[in-house]
Amino acid sequence: MPAPVSVSTHPLIQHKLARLRAAATKPPEFRALVAAISHGLFFEATRDLRLAPIGVETPLTQTTCQHIADRVGLVPVLRAGLGMAEAMLEALPEAVVWHLGLYRDHATLKPVTYYNKMPPKPDMDVALVLDPMLATGGSAIAAIDILKTTGTPRIIFAGLIAAPEGVAALQAAHPDVPVFLAALDSRLNEVGYIVPGLGDAGDRQFGTA
Ligand code: PRP
Ligand code: URA
Repeated sequence: MPAPVSVSTHPLIQHKLARLRAAATKPPEFRALVAAISHGLFFEATRDLRLAPIGVETPLTQTTCQHIADRVGLVPVLRAGLGMAEAMLEALPEAVVWHLGLYRDHATLKPVTYYNKMPPKPDMDVALVLDPMLATGGSAIAAIDILKTTGTPRIIFAGLIAAPEGVAALQAAHPDVPVFLAALDSRLNEVGYIVPGLGDAGDRQFGTA
């Protein structure tokens, strides 16, 4: 039984996804929407982080609160995962970021690794692989393959939009990795783009279309 695939039903996320998908949305707004949706998704994807008690002095008294005990790594898949990582780092500034550069070859649709800033022995309890688009699944699978060589005990995938083909491939390759999404779309088209999707997430964030 593979780890669950969770698709957000939060109204704010759905509302912002509509603007994100619109072809007329320009890069500045697109980046803001990626950040806002990623922020919401981060709360959903980290709901099982471990907590530990911490003493806090309020203006009135001494009390015991909770803080996050897990050491968290964010692994943005370049380029498009960068916007997700920035938003999540704002929500949890103690997280560390490991950049991983992969691009999808246009002819074969296979991922090509061009940059890896992952420490050989990361000291993290949980790592979130961040990529807005889960299309064929090749990039997410390759990123998690690399991450698993570091021995990170818990891995979570967070994406904005996925195709069923990508989810199936990811679950087959890494059944232990839970998947958190803002939307699960209908299909891939003949050139491997998600439909209805939003086009090319990297180009739309960075204005390179
Ligand atoms: C996009 C996207 C994913 C990949 C998804 O990256 O950000 O990394 O495609 O496709 P897959 O599931 O079929 O592997 P792209 O290669 O366009 O690179 P970019 O982020 O630098 O634009
Ligand atoms: N990569 C993207 O940026 N968009 C898609 O629809 C598929 C892969």
